[in-house]
Amino acid sequence: MNVAIMGYGTIGSGVAKILSDNSALIEKRAGCRLTLTKVLDLRDFDGDPIAPLVVHDYNQIAEDDSVDLVVETMGGVEPAFTFVKAMLEHGKHVTTSNKALVADKGAELLEIARANGVQFLFEASVGGGIPIIRTLLTALTGDRIDEITGIINGTTNYMLTNMANEGCGFDEVLKEAQANGYAEADPSADIEGHDATRKIAILTSLIAEATVNYQDIPVEGITGITAEDFIYAKKLSHAVKLLAVCKRQADTFAIRVAPFLLDEEHPLYAVHGVMNAVYVVGNMLGDSMYYGSGAGSLPTASAVVGDLVSMAKEHDKASDIRWSHDTIRLADPDEQSYRNFIRTSLSESGIRECFEIESVLDLGIAGEIGVVTASMTEKAYKEACGRLSDGDIISRIRIG
Ligand code: HSE
Repeated sequence: MNVAIMGYGTIGSGVAKILSDNSALIEKRAGCRLTLTKVLDLRDFDGDPIAPLVVHDYNQIAEDDSVDLVVETMGGVEPAFTFVKAMLEHGKHVTTSNKALVADKGAELLEIARANGVQFLFEASVGGGIPIIRTLLTALTGDRIDEITGIINGTTNYMLTNMANEGCGFDEVLKEAQANGYAEADPSADIEGHDATRKIAILTSLIAEATVNYQDIPVEGITGITAEDFIYAKKLSHAVKLLAVCKRQADTFAIRVAPFLLDEEHPLYAVHGVMNAVYVVGNMLGDSMYYGSGAGSLPTASAVVGDLVSMAKEHDKASDIRWSHDTIRLADPDEQSYRNFIRTSLSESGIRECFEIESVLDLGIAGEIGVVTASMTEKAYKEACGRLSDGDIISRIRIG
């Protein structure tokens, strides 16, 4: 079968490498040879062995009947959506690593795939090389999934790990992450939590078999986390992690993306650096956790090639992924309850006037103390803050 790659960047070139380096075992497992015959990119790659395969117009792939399988690794919603739609409508199976595309257009592209008798797969869109989507859709289909909690953004986990280990501040660690290639020049989607929000929306849509609008998910990134927060976290023997949390609640889901403090007992406590992990609770299975490289060229490309092999083996089948257009109304985020760690400029008696306090930490940092509140709803937290003045709360991190 012939393969085309749209977008020859970090992941697309990784896919080409795996198809070449592992060609013999892929041929055995797919039941046929997978040959890269076209690469869509704006660049020409003069001198590169793939240069003769390069085209600049997606129609040259869509209208080429010899191309069976298409990889989309361009990123972004447009023009990726237009290109992927065209491929599906021309009867080609498509796999993508593009979480923005899947979060925004997943239900629509699956419908187009079904109508055209082909498959649309997206294992690499969440958790990079961790096979979390196939696990939810196949191995765990006998379970009702009650919780998915993930560290699903490598950039922020790398930054938080370095802040914890080196005691440095946010700006310093961001510069270091960019210098080492772990953060993009424009890191906003990662550090503001939007990347993780799209990924948890995809996972929840799959277990709900309906659409979660990622815009409906309350999100806080890591830009407010400081070196001082880690001094308290260390004292509490907690880690600070950006979590994407989805919990089943009656007939809907409570979802949130935010930094959380985790104690040493939490399964995600020891997930460090760029690694990702997804903790899943099934009503029969109980707890399980999936850990691995959540980003990077070859880990992500490995998931894409897994999809290619699957599509090659089942090339006569249309998509059977159940994800309807019906939008899920998420549980009211204000009703979610957490214990909170708060740094405050108030005295102990001052903060106790507004919050039920479980413990107080005075680490000798001038002008502040830290407190841990009893569990309270977000609504109650906001009401309590409403009784305070600006600057009384220096920072707040929920406890997971
Ligand atoms: N920027 C993303 C991350 C890449 O850091 O996880 C993988 O989706």
